[in-house]
Order: sequence, then structure tokens, then C-alpha cells
Amino acid sequence: MNAKLILDNELKDSQSTEIIKVYSPWDGAEIGSLAAANESEAKYAVESAAQAFKTWRYSNLSDRIAILSKAHTLLSQRIPELAQLLKSEIAKNYADAKSEIERSLEYLELTIDAARFLKGKSFNADMFPKYERGRKQAVYKREGLGVVLAISPFNYPINLSITKIAPALIMGNTVVFKPATVGALTAFEFYKAFIEAGLPKGVLNFVTGSSSKIGDVLLTHPQISLIAFTGSTRVGDHIKKVSNGVPLLLELGGKDNAIVTANADLDRAASEIVSGAFSYNGQRCTAQKLVLVYESIAAELINKIQSKMQELQMTPMIDAGAANYVQELVQDAKDKGAQIIIEGTREGNLLKPSLISNITPQMRLFKEEQFGPVLPIVLVSSEQQAIEYANMSDFGLQASVYTKDLEEAYRIADQLEVGTVQINGRGDRGPDNYPFGGIKGSGMAMQGLEESLELMSRGKLTVLNLYNQKH
Ligand code: G3H
Repeated sequence: MNAKLILDNELKDSQSTEIIKVYSPWDGAEIGSLAAANESEAKYAVESAAQAFKTWRYSNLSDRIAILSKAHTLLSQRIPELAQLLKSEIAKNYADAKSEIERSLEYLELTIDAARFLKGKSFNADMFPKYERGRKQAVYKREGLGVVLAISPFNYPINLSITKIAPALIMGNTVVFKPATVGALTAFEFYKAFIEAGLPKGVLNFVTGSSSKIGDVLLTHPQISLIAFTGSTRVGDHIKKVSNGVPLLLELGGKDNAIVTANADLDRAASEIVSGAFSYNGQRCTAQKLVLVYESIAAELINKIQSKMQELQMTPMIDAGAANYVQELVQDAKDKGAQIIIEGTREGNLLKPSLISNITPQMRLFKEEQFGPVLPIVLVSSEQQAIEYANMSDFGLQASVYTKDLEEAYRIADQLEVGTVQINGRGDRGPDNYPFGGIKGSGMAMQGLEESLELMSRGKLTVLNLYNQKH
């Protein structure tokens, strides 16, 4: 499978004819290639989207709905094929790959519905004595911002692009989409359907290529009006530096804590923690990445976690670098005296899960985001210490609190410095209509359904000054 650039609705090779070969994380076999855009193609993608914005912004909402609905219909007929491609490209198991495609189509549908019922506001000024009734009235509506630059990561090439692109397009923006190289084949197949569905030329341009060559060309282009990025905190920090003050939607890393108190249902906690920590090998920003458990119940919880881990089926890590990094963190914990309960073996890039207890703040696993299949456990002596440790994190995406005592749950949740607290459940971004966003190193801006429609638009006030309204 070979992905091309999509510029002005045309599928193109790069002028330089340069390509990036794509290898399967499952077995290293070559499975396709991507066109590698050069600097001038990256610039052109933005300029063409800026040109298209001039008319798309004034298109009827009904026309935008019709095109996006058609894309939805076309894609709904291809779910198994797209899931299979996604599985081969990013080493997600088939069920998870299928679920990613399905939830993305559900999100597209929900976005269309939410836009249908999006309300404007009107204002009157007659609460102030100097304005008589009807003298000054205003209509407040939302309109597109311009060109949205959407950048998605390898772990959700479809879901973490549709949650940017669908609200952007429906609100009248045009889009330049740059997926991460890994995942771009499926993304190409998916978004080609939007062109087939009738998007006018330039409304959605698709660009692949090396970030070191075209990343900054896109990020710093003066005709970009909003950057919506999901990926690492390191790249997010770079975007903050170079982005010329345009609005940013940044969904970055996470180090989601799971606080397990003495009042927890330990079976429930163990099952949620294991699924939260290890699904897709822990390569999720919302994965449970540190357990803070009260000493009195630690042994029991660890036993339960250990036995649940026997059922896990892993897939290969996305690449050797990711697997090496996890092993480095495990080695560091070992060197500093952590208790290794299970040490996952490695075969190629397939890393079996590890469970490590007695983690201390001096160990790298306490602070660094492992983004892989290792679950570090910290023993805490009090509620206060659990909260203090949780808030020491440089990240602030989600946290979980496991307890049957709702008073306790709410008290702890209230003090955690994160965007979302899950009570008795694993970290999860979805369902996708829920508001979602992080603080600190985890990013900025809240996405969701209505939240994303707001983010991808600006308010515009038109004031009607009337002088003869006495009757
Ligand atoms: O990797 C970051 C994703 O936003 C996590 O999404 O909670 O649906 O796995 P998820």
C-alpha cells in the first residue's frame, strides 16, 4: 500500500519522488510507503487550504453535513478492511483496531449532530438605563478560524485525527493534516474517503514526510490559525515555542496515578489497573502508569494484580526504541533497590509485562512516562502522602481513585491536579463525547464534542444599533 500526498484533492507523489518505507512492527516486513513531502509542498498545503477557506467558510452547514455524512457512509462499509490495515501498521490487536475505527465514525456522527444543534446567543442592552428597549441588540455566532493544522500520533492515527478534523471542518475551517509516519497508511485510506465524499479542493490537504524537514514549515506558517496536536510532551513544548501565538490544542503525555485506598474493592481495582496499564502495551497517554497503594492492603492488591496479569496477551511495541526505553527504566528501578515481582522478557520488540513494587521518588519510573508494559507500585502510608506523591508529577492528565467510600473518593479527587479523575475506573479518554484535556506537562485546552466545536471556532458579535424602536 502506498500513501500519496493529497493536495487540492489530487493524490500526488512528492515532486522529489522521495518516499518513506513503512515496516510492520509485527515482523519487520515492508508493508508500504509514504510520499515524503518537501518544504515547498508543505507550504503549498497550507496556502491551498487558506485559499479554500475563503469559500468553505461561507458554505451552508447543510452542505458540510451532507459531505461529512457521505464520508461516514463510505467508511462504515470498510470497517474490517481499515481495521486490518491499522492492525498491521501499528500492532494493535484486531479488536482494538476495529474499535478505534468504530468509535471514530461514531464521533464523526455525533459531531455532525452537535453542529446541527449548536446555538448562538443574542444580547439586549436594556438592563442599562441609557439604552432604551430595542436600541442596541446583538447576535453572537461562531465562525471558522481559518486553516487548522492537525497532527496525530502513532497510537490512534484515526481517532486522534477525527477528533480534530471533524469539528474543524464542520465549523467551516479548512485543514492540513500531518499524521505521524507510523499510522499514516490507514490515515491516508480513511481521509481519501472525505475527498470522494465531495469536499471541495483544498479543504482537507494530507501531508506526510519527515518532521525534521517539514514540521517547522507547517508549525510556523503564518496562515495557520490553530494547531491541534497529540503526541509527546517534548514535541508539545517545541510547538509552544515556535507557534507564533496561534491557539493551541495540545494533548501530550500522562503519568496517570491510580490511588488505591484501604476502602477499595480490590478485585475491581486490580482488574481496572491491569487493563488500564497494559492495553495496547501501555502505549496510551491515559494508561495507568503508577499505582499508589496504602501499605495495609498492598500485598493483597499486588497478589490480585499479579494473577490478572497472567491473562494478558501482548502485541509488539511500536519500535525497538520504545522497548529499549522501558527496559532502561526497569533496570534503573532494579539498580536502586525496587522489588521486581514480574520481569517481562523480551523477544524482538515483543515485551512481556513487568510488575515492580517499592518504587521510590528517586527512581525514574516514579516520574517518567514509560509508555510501555511496566506497572510501578509505590507504597503510601496516608491519604495525604498519596495526594502529595500524585501531585509531584510533571503531568496532569488523569488519575484514578479506588475506594468504596464516596466521601473519601470525592475528597481525594478534589485535590488531584489533573484534567480528569476516574472513581473506581481506569484512565480513559472516552467515551468521546466527554470533555478531555490535561494540565501541566499533559497539554492545554479541553476537547470533547461541544468543547471541540468551540475550540475550532471563534465567537463573532454583530451589534445592531437601532434608533426608532419606540412603539
Ligand atoms: O494516547 C492518548 C489517547 O488520547 C488515549 O486515549 O484513553 O482512548 O486510550 P484512550
